[in-house]
Amino acid sequence: MVQLTLPRNSQVTEGKVWDKPEGATNLREYRIYRWNPDDGRNPRVDTYFVDADDCGPMVLDGLIYIKNKIDPTLTFRRSCREGICGSCAMNIDGTNTLACTKGTDEIAGDVVKIYPLP
Ligand code: FES
Repeated sequence: MVQLTLPRNSQVTEGKVWDKPEGATNLREYRIYRWNPDDGRNPRVDTYFVDADDCGPMVLDGLIYIKNKIDPTLTFRRSCREGICGSCAMNIDGTNTLACTKGTDEIAGDVVKIYPLP
């Protein structure tokens, strides 16, 4: 039997909980895996709150909202926004899928969990 040992820096830690948008009444929580290969720290999961009344219906719309209005350091790929190019592929709610075609209303539960593809 093969025994694998993961490196210490592979352990995902709890990250920052960002402020909720002011005046928002319809909030959607996003928990997003973050990792910076240059800072030597472990990966973390940050928590963001998106104003669903000020954002489109797709998960990619939420990511764009976060990048534009909350955390400009959030990095992800996208291109066509029509499910053609595949560049927005990520693990959303435990399933590998496209962020531009996955509606937040398709997510089971209240939290949108986003990780890189395995
Ligand atoms: S942005 Fe092209 S498939 Fe999502």
